[in-house]
Amino acid sequence: MALKELLGVREGILADLHRDHEAVDKLLQRVLDSDDAAERRELFARVRAELKAHAEAEARVLYRKLDKSDEEASRLFAFEGDVEHEVLAEQLDKLWAMRDKTSEKWTARAQVLQEVLRHHVKEEESDGFERAHAEFSKDELNKMAERFQREKAKLLEG
Ligand SMILES: [Fe+2]
Ligand SMILES: [Fe+2]
Repeated sequence: MALKELLGVREGILADLHRDHEAVDKLLQRVLDSDDAAERRELFARVRAELKAHAEAEARVLYRKLDKSDEEASRLFAFEGDVEHEVLAEQLDKLWAMRDKTSEKWTARAQVLQEVLRHHVKEEESDGFERAHAEFSKDELNKMAERFQREKAKLLEG
């Protein structure tokens, strides 16, 4: 792990991504902590919308640069990340389609989603952020932050 990650320095888009990760994790925890069906549904709708927009915008702005890198580690991170985004989106849709959001089955699936998400975020903030720091200047990371916010806003509107 690079020194910047150890020190918790996150520049440009990396700071934005980290903020989103924390916000979505808190929201999903609130879903799991609730035992009220209407509240779970409302909070989960936000988790699904936010996480899908985050993942798609992140893939467009960050992953699509890393997968064209000369460095194998950067390409592999992006390819693996894409697959994990697919798994996450699939589970978000399954959970959304299940009618009873307070059933034991629903709760079990939501807990697995939380585990997969935390695993994904952990790798992204270590391997992914390290690759990004290695590949892009501070200025590029700042420009990517602006693009990320624009893309995400478009996705949330659409
Ligand atoms: Fe992310
Ligand atoms: Fe991601």
